[in-house]
Amino acid sequence: MSRIEEAIKKAAAERSGTDAGSVRFERPELQVKTKSIKAHIRDLLNVPPIKVDNLMLATVREEKTAAVEAYNKLRSAVVALTKGDSFLNTLMVTSTVSAEGKTMTALNLSISLAKQYDHTVLLVDTDLRRPSIHKYLDLQPEVGLVNCLRDNLPLEDALIKTGIGKLVVLPAGEIIEDPVDMLSSDRLKTIVAELKQRYPDRYVVFDTPPALPFADAGILANIVDATLFVVREGKANSAEIQTTLETFKQHHLLGVVYNDAHTFFKTDSYAYY
Ligand SMILES: Nc1ncnc2c1ncn2[C@@H]1O[C@H](COP(=O)(O)OP(=O)(O)O)[C@@H](O)[C@H]1O
Ligand SMILES: [Mg+2]
Repeated sequence: MSRIEEAIKKAAAERSGTDAGSVRFERPELQVKTKSIKAHIRDLLNVPPIKVDNLMLATVREEKTAAVEAYNKLRSAVVALTKGDSFLNTLMVTSTVSAEGKTMTALNLSISLAKQYDHTVLLVDTDLRRPSIHKYLDLQPEVGLVNCLRDNLPLEDALIKTGIGKLVVLPAGEIIEDPVDMLSSDRLKTIVAELKQRYPDRYVVFDTPPALPFADAGILANIVDATLFVVREGKANSAEIQTTLETFKQHHLLGVVYNDAHTFFKTDSYAYY
């Protein structure tokens, strides 16, 4: 029996009241015991941080570079826009086409939030076509969102503690070629509603596939509270961006992150990227 089958069998055993044990990851320190999400989240304090080598994840490190400052500014803007009368705590990050920096933005924003606030931030990889959060964090998860949606694996069995602030990751689990049915399922709605209800003071950030070629992000926009849109200089053309943005304007669009800008804006003797 494969490890995934074992994990699913254990989850089923727990639901029927027998001993469920725990899900095993390649790296034992990342192993999450089977227990309630609340109890699990409490256990996330004081875990040693995972080692992240990717230089693009500037927010992991302690130096205050221009990139870190930019992500901290983004964090402040997001907090200001989401903490109103009702807290918009479920956010998705999307863009027009691929390689615009959605995943990097979702990761750096989540890390920046998780480091500053005494709050758990849950980052969910809903790019089931090309999941990459686990790759950027050098994780090798065996289960993830797909197993929760398809196999009824309890959510808490797929969560990975990172020790980076209080950042918790729900990886995709596996690649799905056409995830539209899976993302349209009531199970996903239930999971998102459960996360929102159980953790009303915490952010849940969803990374998504590009919105122009695929329906996935548009489907998710109906479930989450707000959307953050990434535009990378030199990628999509303005007509494509405008077409895609029209969809998200109806779904509480928080704003646009202009990524990898090369244009200089000059005022007096100051120059800004
Ligand atoms: N501002 C940036 N400067 C340089 N490289 C970037 C920048 N933003 C993203 N990248 C790189 O571009 C690639 C695609 O980024 P990614 O976040 O995976 O895009 P997406 O999720 O939109 O497909 C990655 O290799 C990433 O490191
Ligand atoms: Mg991505």
